[in-house]
Amino acid sequence: MTAQETVVADAGAEGARFPDGFVWGVATAAYQIEGAVAEDGRTRSIWDTFSHTAGKVAGGDTGDVATDHYHRYAEDVALMAELGVGAYRFSVSWPRVLPDGGSRVNQKGLDFYSRLVDELLGAGIQPVVTLYHWDLPQALEDAGGWPNRDTAARFADYADVMGRALGDRVTMWTTLNEPWCSAFLGYGSGVHAPGRTDAAAALAAAHHLNLAHGLAVPALRAAVAAGTPISVVLNLAAVRAASDAPADAEAARRVDGIANRIFLEPMLRGRYPRDVIADTSAVSDWGFLRDGDEEVIAAGVDLLGVNYYTPMLVAAYDGVGPRSLADGHGDGPGTAWPGCDDVDFRPQPGPYTAMDWSIDATGLYDLLARVDRDHPGLPLLVTENGAAFDDVVEPSGRIRDRERERYLREHLGAVHAAIADGVDVRGYFLWSLLDNFEWAYGYSKRFGIVHVDFATQQRRLKDSAAWYRDVVTSNALPGRATEPPDGGQVGAAGE
Ligand code: FCB
Repeated sequence: MTAQETVVADAGAEGARFPDGFVWGVATAAYQIEGAVAEDGRTRSIWDTFSHTAGKVAGGDTGDVATDHYHRYAEDVALMAELGVGAYRFSVSWPRVLPDGGSRVNQKGLDFYSRLVDELLGAGIQPVVTLYHWDLPQALEDAGGWPNRDTAARFADYADVMGRALGDRVTMWTTLNEPWCSAFLGYGSGVHAPGRTDAAAALAAAHHLNLAHGLAVPALRAAVAAGTPISVVLNLAAVRAASDAPADAEAARRVDGIANRIFLEPMLRGRYPRDVIADTSAVSDWGFLRDGDEEVIAAGVDLLGVNYYTPMLVAAYDGVGPRSLADGHGDGPGTAWPGCDDVDFRPQPGPYTAMDWSIDATGLYDLLARVDRDHPGLPLLVTENGAAFDDVVEPSGRIRDRERERYLREHLGAVHAAIADGVDVRGYFLWSLLDNFEWAYGYSKRFGIVHVDFATQQRRLKDSAAWYRDVVTSNALPGRATEPPDGGQVGAAGE
């Protein structure tokens, strides 16, 4: 059997039970769902500016209304309760709470998150808060953004405010979501807000995001209830070399450095990988790295969140024909990969999701096993995993999203296999609860297990939601035989 077949077979195996206490959740992010962008004192974030700039987001879509979660949060918590999930990972909009990016607190903004947390606790769902899921206050971008060192200090102040406000009730804190995207898509390739294309600025941004994390951890620890776990969420890349040839292995090393080790090593080992500093020396002299920064960044986390969607295949560019740049993040005017100019990002075999991302659950297994090997003893959480497909709403309202169900089954099989092999994975958060604003793709890509009609804001459980409810409530993967036949009504799917 190939590794893929083993993982898939495990997913279908009878008795694929998860450990007692395994946390089952769903995830979202503020700008993708909240809407209400000018309400109750919220000011603009870089994503408001970016999405309102012509040509940046597919269809000219913006997060102005999104899924209107700001007003419909109680309905959405009720949906989660119906799914039986034990935890909800959501993010806080920084400019809703600190409209100038400075120290002026907007109480109405804080009150929204306080209401949400209470609603969740009332429904028996653990609130898991991400402080930063990409929506930097525009005021801070105007002052230089993440390439400016001061932004890290502002983030620590924000962490302190949030910790004091919600620290008695939140179950787990996450500082940053996917700092790789913030730094290298935001300031490098320019496909994400703020849309800058300056490789040196992207490296400075990566460092200041790391520093922000390192400063925020002690700020949170001082403010929240003792013992509350603190984490960071990384979109680690499962990087594969196209062959055993040394040049391809070298390409994989470089990509691994910029995708993974530039965050993992300072955060978990207190030292930037020297090969990454060398690889990028033509772009930046790393003058932003000051004495003592690496110790600050290594503040320590209780858990590491891993987001995974698809693996990455790289090779040495042979200089013949156009270089392939199929890294899964879309073409931008700049590069997201400083120091990797000689790397070919190869297209991968199908099947694919609607994002054109190759579906391959072995990447998730490999990633979890690799982090465990490199950082033994660190508890892990899968903080995002899921898939966009072109869902069809039948006249009856039913959405038979079998491909999503299959994707989830295979990837949960990979998580199960990793646990069986001794990796300490504590939970799984499905991306996403709702169809939402998928960044540069706008509303064209649907990741939800709950369908949203963006014209009416009507929510509708897809078949995958009923399937996930079965997984969550049984703490196990249902065997294939128990899968409801096509055409039969699945549980209580529907409104
Ligand atoms: C991740 C983001 C999340 C969502 C998924 C599809 O990179 O963290 O907000 O867009 O991808």
